[in-house]
Amino acid sequence: MGPFSDERVLVTGGAGFIGSHVTEALLEQGAQVIVVDDLSTGSVSNLSHLEGAGGLRMIEANAATLPVAALEGVTMGVHLAARTEVAASIEDPAGTVEANVLGSVHVLEALNKAGARSAVVASSAAVYGEVPIPVAEDGPHRPMSPYGAGKLAVDHFVHYYAHHTDLAVCALRFFNVYGPRQHPRSPYAGVISVFAKAALLGEDLTINGDGGQTRDFVNIADIVKAILIALRTPEARGEPINIGTGHGISIEDLAREMISVAGSPSRVRHGPDRPGDIRHSVAKVDKAESLLGFTPSVPLREGLVTTVEWMRSQQQG
Ligand SMILES: NC(=O)c1ccc[n+]([C@@H]2O[C@H](COP(=O)([O-])OP(=O)(O)OC[C@H]3O[C@@H](n4cnc5c(N)ncnc54)[C@H](O)[C@@H]3O)[C@@H](O)[C@H]2O)c1
Repeated sequence: MGPFSDERVLVTGGAGFIGSHVTEALLEQGAQVIVVDDLSTGSVSNLSHLEGAGGLRMIEANAATLPVAALEGVTMGVHLAARTEVAASIEDPAGTVEANVLGSVHVLEALNKAGARSAVVASSAAVYGEVPIPVAEDGPHRPMSPYGAGKLAVDHFVHYYAHHTDLAVCALRFFNVYGPRQHPRSPYAGVISVFAKAALLGEDLTINGDGGQTRDFVNIADIVKAILIALRTPEARGEPINIGTGHGISIEDLAREMISVAGSPSRVRHGPDRPGDIRHSVAKVDKAESLLGFTPSVPLREGLVTTVEWMRSQQQG
């Protein structure tokens, strides 16, 4: 028994970084979970430790073409499936719209038709672009990539579904999420997993540009907490809500902190700027606090320790 024991929850992208943690937490709290994942960037190995637990069903499929019939009895949805690479979205804007915008509309429509009560959709800090910090939900919005523009478009569909159908859905705008299972393989992976890997191997930590750019890093445990609260908070209906810490750290300071946490001989070096990178990104977090009663609880140093421990176990395994 648990707070979700009467729920059957669809998690799209459930074999990915955020999705596998959400799936784990929902199962722990008594839910039945249907994961739909096409395994384009996710992996069944992210869920293999949950196989024996019961309550989990994995469907390997494109969420954008999922038939409503597959969602029979689903009461809630967490829509995380997306193409997440910002640079790839600049290479293929139309493909990004098809996967992330049309795909999301399809999932929202299917959840509504299946009679689901509530849902959370993954939005992103990328909807804001280069604007004064801290960034608030009501804007300005100046997305600098098809990825960010697509996420903003989906936020508008969330508003439509929330106010004109029976689906109580909200959009959580995640800032820079980090933690175990974020894979450092792709060049677009979170900087924390890339730095953790380099620090453990004793390799240089390469910063794009001067390192003065700031980011708001939020731990995966806090993201999971926010999603689970939002699923059960009707007042969040239709709202975009920032999920960050409200604190920025420069990439230079992050690199030094990582070297210290890993006890590594690595050094910091600087490479060229990454085109399209915003300078500062920090969330205004009042809305998450007032609407969801959510405040992040994992301090960055503690989160870095857990991430480094996980990375160490991966390198040894
Ligand atoms: N990680 C972050 O810092 C961050 C920040 C803001 C927003 N987000 C959003 O959170 C969500 C999850 O991101 P993540 O970091 O866990 O990435 P991830 O790549 O680990 O997870 C995405 C998952 O979706 C799956 N997928 C992709 N397209 C699919 C499709 N069409 N059908 C079914 N499955 C599909 C992938 O195989 C993968 O398992 C995404 O929507 C992303 O845009 C992430």
